[in-house]
Amino acid sequence: MSASAKLAPPTANASKANGVNGASNGAPNAGGVKVSLSLGNLPQKKELKALYPRTPSRVDPNNPPWPAYRGYHEYSFAYATMGHRLPTILGKAIEDTIRTLNDQSAEDKVVDLVKCVERMDDLMSDLSGNQKLRPIIDDGEGDIPLWNKEIAKYFQGKDFMNAPWLFAEAYKYRRLHECFSISQYWKDYDVFFRQKCDTFSRSSDAVFELSTRFVEPFTHANHLSDGDKLEKERLMFLELTQVCLWGNSTDLSLLINMTEDQIKSLQSTGGEHLAATEKNILGNHMSRLWETIKDIKETRGRSGAGGRIDFVLDNAGFELYCDCVYADFLIQSGIASQVRFHGKRFAWFVSDVTRKDWEWLLNSMVYGQLFPKATDAELESLRRLGRRWKQYEKEGKWVYEQHAFWCTGYTYWDLHTEAPDLFLHLSQSDLVIFKGDLNHRKLTYDCAAPASTPFDVAIGPMATFPGAPRVASLRTIKSDVVVGFESDAIAEQLDQDEAGWKISGKYAVVLLSDGRPGEKVRFA
Ligand code: F6P
Ligand code: MG
Repeated sequence: MSASAKLAPPTANASKANGVNGASNGAPNAGGVKVSLSLGNLPQKKELKALYPRTPSRVDPNNPPWPAYRGYHEYSFAYATMGHRLPTILGKAIEDTIRTLNDQSAEDKVVDLVKCVERMDDLMSDLSGNQKLRPIIDDGEGDIPLWNKEIAKYFQGKDFMNAPWLFAEAYKYRRLHECFSISQYWKDYDVFFRQKCDTFSRSSDAVFELSTRFVEPFTHANHLSDGDKLEKERLMFLELTQVCLWGNSTDLSLLINMTEDQIKSLQSTGGEHLAATEKNILGNHMSRLWETIKDIKETRGRSGAGGRIDFVLDNAGFELYCDCVYADFLIQSGIASQVRFHGKRFAWFVSDVTRKDWEWLLNSMVYGQLFPKATDAELESLRRLGRRWKQYEKEGKWVYEQHAFWCTGYTYWDLHTEAPDLFLHLSQSDLVIFKGDLNHRKLTYDCAAPASTPFDVAIGPMATFPGAPRVASLRTIKSDVVVGFESDAIAEQLDQDEAGWKISGKYAVVLLSDGRPGEKVRFA
């Protein structure tokens, strides 16, 4: 389009309003005759593409470093999630609550729960009617200022579909929590608890595969040389890293309707299977991760303190069980003297771990009757493993904690500024392992970065701020953002060959950032 055609010829009224053609200085505009400028000799307007990544000062929750995914982007998983998956998940949550309602007898509790269901119905209409994002009702919980500040500063007037997907989706889970948190008797009700327990009890093969292998504490045979011992540890570490990684593919929010056999094939933990699946790790820093682990063992071992490793957990049930098997090895092999597990304060993205899920897992391993078909030996292996893990907790070798920041809409680019205490706390860790898809989205700002973007560039301040810990992301790919690949071509080829490769959980990444550990943490 030419420059002159793009400049709409002003009408008499418009020219009065904007002062074009001297109308504002009182000169008559003869009978409303239209005047048009001919700008044919000026240079053509250039279609400039926005430059990405945005400079850090222009990055904010509504403007990530690369373009955000938003619910109305039909090409992205955001569209299916906001338009279809979230209403389905909410519908199931309502069904679960009604089931609980029908089991109640005391009138005041029944009436209170009916109001929770009404609020869930309201949330359903807001979501399906694509309403604007309103502030969260003050239920006295500590995260309210964080939520409402973010909404006021960045999302005024935004709705479920045009806010960035990550924020809109997190907001939906906080609104779901609000349905209960303002009630009298149901503040901590977890609409997903039943389903979470179910994944564990439906995973018997993989559960016993691991419990029978790891029931005995890890030791080395006496005759092995130091070199052989190290090699054995390396191989075990690499296999267990994969067990921990692929434990993430059984995520309830995606697999609600899976059959037992489909779950089993996803959870296969055998050696051959693991060798075959390594080729599906498209960004693979596993050997660097081993070097880091070795370094932690040597340096922290020398100082006598022992290493500290943190897990920012993802899903409850089977994935948490895999995380614990991994963490058990880290303790047994002397790599870490303490493992800290970070869970969520309330029901989050369907299957994420809360304190109740944590306690449920350990106690059902020791006391539960979840596996009627298991042999005595299998049940005994699970009980012994569970007792050992509970003992770690008593001794302070394993610590479970849940900072409010993990259940906010902020990405981890803002962890340093919005949760300085948490940043400081993590900076004291030797390695922070983030599990799963959502944590990966939050590390990378959930935006359309090129697939070849180096991981430490994609995670911004979590890699570059003084004192930033070493960070590893173990994630099966279940949504659009991918970084840390050797080239963009890998992703482009998969886009052509395998529709849905970014949401199937078939592919994964194990990525590491060295951070700036040991430097003094400073806040602006
Ligand atoms: O709703 C989308 C999503 O956030 C995806 O990231 C993923 O499909 C799921 O929910 C959560 O996955 P994970 O439990 O691995 O974080
Ligand atoms: Mg999850």
